[in-house]
Amino acid sequence: MSETARIILEGKEYEFPVIVGTENEKAIDISKLRASTGYITLDFGYKNTGSTKSAITYLDGENGVLRHRGYSIEELADNASFLEVAYLLIYGELPNKEQLEYFETSVCHHTLVHENMKRFFQAFPPNAHPMGMLSSMISSLSTFYPESQNPNRSVVDIERTIHRLIAKLPTLAAQAYKHNMGHPTVYPSNDLGYVGNFLKMMFGLPTANYEVDPVIESALNKLLILHADHEQNCSASTVRIVGSSQANLYSSVSAGIAALWGPLHGGANQAVIEMLESIKEDGGDMEKWIAKAKDKNDSFRLMGFGHRVYKNFDPRARIIKKAADEVLAKLGVNDPVLDLAKRLEEVALKDEYFVQRGLYPNVDFYSGIIYRALGIPTEMFTVMFAIGRLPGWIAQWKEMLENGEPIGRPRQVYTGATERSFVNINDRS
Ligand code: MLT
Repeated sequence: MSETARIILEGKEYEFPVIVGTENEKAIDISKLRASTGYITLDFGYKNTGSTKSAITYLDGENGVLRHRGYSIEELADNASFLEVAYLLIYGELPNKEQLEYFETSVCHHTLVHENMKRFFQAFPPNAHPMGMLSSMISSLSTFYPESQNPNRSVVDIERTIHRLIAKLPTLAAQAYKHNMGHPTVYPSNDLGYVGNFLKMMFGLPTANYEVDPVIESALNKLLILHADHEQNCSASTVRIVGSSQANLYSSVSAGIAALWGPLHGGANQAVIEMLESIKEDGGDMEKWIAKAKDKNDSFRLMGFGHRVYKNFDPRARIIKKAADEVLAKLGVNDPVLDLAKRLEEVALKDEYFVQRGLYPNVDFYSGIIYRALGIPTEMFTVMFAIGRLPGWIAQWKEMLENGEPIGRPRQVYTGATERSFVNINDRS
């Protein structure tokens, strides 16, 4: 007999089904709670609430496990290309040779963006944050492809929208960077791979050949894979909830980009380098800042340490640490901010205070280091995260659609004034 949960309210007992996932994760299905009892649950930040059943990503925060469609993040990061992982997330299986070739070719053919979008960029201030530009540009893609707005669009249309979005996001990201630099746009080259093409659009010139450095390409490929999905995090939940109103994919992902921008989510990698820069400006006395981090009366908090769901270690941080060491060794960068990062890492990995509290350097800490070593400016870090997270957002949106999930509509416990009569302005105190 399947398990049930019993709740006693006002002396009456109610039974609710227990749902068990394939990895033995258990949930109480309270979808009929309000209808049968009149009560709702209260769960700030939805930390105890499963918003969906999902077959995309499995995460065990206690044991540092992250798997996409059953494959461990370690194996994917070591063996796959970013587009292979994107295919896996979106379609559920690793592609065979023909499927991958078709997917890569299709993505390659959609990398250009409409020339009118250049005028949007021109209208932004020179120092506009690239995440603000990216979110706006991705939303505006829906105006160039009106068929994406039709909730009853065909499977072929959905497919084309997905491929277009994967193709165009790096182009728009690189254009945002060029806008900030005041440099001319470098158009996509379809003879390069996904990552190589992005590097060329970022660091190339329209008039010169660009040689893709294989070490940088491989590190970036790994970084993008490590960010590809992370189950129902803030931006993925945003994409699902926006999409649940039948908003088109471009707008849903644009909302995801906005959610990712915050320093408590994807913006953390930018915040890590900004923290290290201010430590450097203060004289670089790391001991002083570590003492401040340990002092519970001090408001200073170390950015890039510990994780909301990984209690002991983040499996992505282990992989990325190795990649960061390799990139730094290969590029031989000499950067006092990165030296501070290495010192801070050393302390945090050994110091009992950090070890006991699970405050290990996380994926944002190391990704910031790699991006900086690659010469990617700090404000672009979260954009890099967005490029990596895109397949996850698409997979989450597509799953929500295929499951026929209802519109997201949480409830609340109202705590405001009870009914009162309108007071004329002359009679108000
Ligand atoms: C992520 O990868 O999305 C972040 O680590 C945040 C999260 O999972 O909550």
